[in-house]
Parts: sequence; C-alpha cells; structure tokens
Amino acid sequence: MSYVITLIPGDGIGPEVTEATREVLAATGVAIEWELREAGAAAAEQHGHPCPDDVIASVQRNRIALKGPIGTPIGRGFRSVNVTLRKALDLYACLRPVKNIEGIASRFSGVDLVIVRENTEGLYSGLEHMVVPGVAESLKIVSERASTRIAEFAFRYARANNRRRVSVVHKANIMKLSDGLFLDSVRKVSRRYAEVDTSEVIVDACAMQLVRFPERFDVLVMDNLYGDILSDLCAGLVGGLGVVPGANIGDECAVFEAVHGSAPDIAGKGVANPTALILSAALMLQYLGEREASARVEQAIRKVYRDTTVRTGDLGGNATTVEFTRAVVQAL
Ligand code: NAI
Repeated sequence: MSYVITLIPGDGIGPEVTEATREVLAATGVAIEWELREAGAAAAEQHGHPCPDDVIASVQRNRIALKGPIGTPIGRGFRSVNVTLRKALDLYACLRPVKNIEGIASRFSGVDLVIVRENTEGLYSGLEHMVVPGVAESLKIVSERASTRIAEFAFRYARANNRRRVSVVHKANIMKLSDGLFLDSVRKVSRRYAEVDTSEVIVDACAMQLVRFPERFDVLVMDNLYGDILSDLCAGLVGGLGVVPGANIGDECAVFEAVHGSAPDIAGKGVANPTALILSAALMLQYLGEREASARVEQAIRKVYRDTTVRTGDLGGNATTVEFTRAVVQAL
C-alpha cells in the first residue's frame, strides 16, 4: 500500500528540514508518494498568493500533509498561511508532545507532557480593527462548540494513550465569559471520562509551575493564544524549538509540522536541526496506523542523541543537517 501525502516545504529552513525528513521516511520502507505544493513567500511571488487554492485542495484530497514552517510578516503583509490552512481545513486540534530526549542537555528530567491547543478561534480569529486612530481592538471568540470538541479531543487522546490527567489551562477569573465558557465546556466533557483525572490551572500559574515542576504535568488543554505561548515554553524545557514535534488535526485531515518557525537567521546554511520535523513525521506515521515504523523513527532519533555526538548548532554541535540526517538513517 502506498500513501499519497501533500508536502509543503515552506519558507526559510523549511526546504532543508523537509528534505531531511523525506530521506528518513524513505529509509523506513513505508511507501509514500509525495504531492509537492508551494505555500509561503515563494508561492506569493510566483502565484500572487501565499496559499494558492491548490494547496488546500491537495490536502483535502489526500487528507494528510507534511509541512515545513512558513513565515508571516509582522504587522503588515499577507495573513498567516498557517492560520489560513488551519481554518480552511478545520484543523481544530494542535497536538504537541514534549518529552526529554536522553543526550540533549536540559535543566529538567522526566518531562513527558502533551499540549492540546484549540486552533481555530480565541484571539487568533483574525478579527481586529482600529476603533479610532490610536485605539485598536482584537476580538477573542470562544464558542461552546469549539471548546467542547477540543476538550473531547484531549480526553479521547488521554484515554487512547493511557494518560492519567488532563489539566485545563484558562484565565476565567478575569475573562469570566470567554474563558469561563471554555472552562465550563471542558468540565462538562470531563464528566464522561471518569478514569481520567481533571485539574484546573490559571495560565500564569501554569507557566510558573511548568518551569518548576514540569514532570507533574500530563495532558494540558487550552485555547489558541495560551497554547501558542506555552508550547514554546515547553519546547524550552526539553532542549528548544529544534526538537519538538507537532500536528494539526481535524475530523477530515491532518497536517504535521514542527513547533519552530522558518528560522530566517540560519536559512540556506544547511545547519538547521531536522529533529522536530522528523519527530512530527513519526506522529504522522502513527496517525496513518504505521505504528512500528513510527516507533522505529523515534527510536532512531533517540539512538543518535544517546549514542553519538552528532549535534547541530542549536544544540552546541557543528553537524550539518545532511550529516545529522545521515546518522538518523544509519540508526534506522
Ligand atoms: P523561529 O522558530 O523561526 O526561530 C527562533 C530561533 O530558533 C532562531 O534563532 C532559529 O534559528 C532557531 N531555530 C528554530 N528552528 C530551528 C531548527 N530547526 N534548527 C535550529 N535552530 C532553529 O521563530 P521566529 O524567528 O520567531 O519566526 C520566524 C518566522 O517563522 C516568522 O515569520 C514566524 O511567523 C514563522 N513561524 C512559522 C511557524 C509555522 O510555520 N508553523 C511557527 C512559528 C513561527
């Protein structure tokens, strides 16, 4: 059986890390036919749009994509392609497992948590305007429907993966209506999952506890903005943005991508760390039901970090992307 998967290389270091990931996947023996689609700055130049319709059509047809990072101009220019894709494909759940990797220096050990972030609304609804010159307003949209389905996703994930606790992260003490609705929706869903413990934590206290006792957390469910910020914080707990995978999942399709961005400062130099995208591809294999290949990819990454000194610059080494990838393929 062969899978047809949309490949979006993206901007900056995207083409380098997607190529590395393709090589590792080829070495697993899982037959994949890639459908290449451009989105981001290159697509904007070529087609006049950073996210041409055929990108969305390709993911809808194949129901699965592997994606490199795509840059978003700050405060001007085109709307985030990432947000566009998540909305157009209704990829409502962003899944980010964060786990220590032996051999990667970190201040913490025993970190094994999963962030489940609501991906379609909250403060990232793209609804902002100038009220009068000098006053801007951004709308934070929270619906019961979106809050309930992200809660369902988190609890289903916890049950399927033998996770014991789901912590709901919120700021309902201040945003009583919007975060209050989110919290209430999660509470209602939690009652149907008696075997999973539920805890509630205010987002600022959560940030503090995460950097003091990260090993105490299991699954965390939260809205879009908190999820965006705490995902990066959690990446920092286990060695940084270069090593944490991610997935954006909906009922119809899924897009797998790393947590990091396009890293313009090192783009084109051949020194990017492809670990995060390779681990995202392992999540993708798991999603496809290729559990054995998925486990082998993760173990190969772990073996390189545990048994060798091959490290890219972000982790203090001087290996190139190609050298690191070669080590992973050898470990496989
Ligand atoms: P970034 O993640 O691209 O870079 C932050 C720092 O981490 C940089 O010093 C970079 O060199 C380093 N870094 C990131 N990934 C690395 C890797 N794989 N190997 C080695 N070093 C790595 O974040 P930044 O600079 O805030 O964003 C750059 C662009 O990426 C922006 O336009 C932003 O909008 C976009 N972005 C896209 C995302 C996506 O497509 N999912 C996610 C986050 C940001």
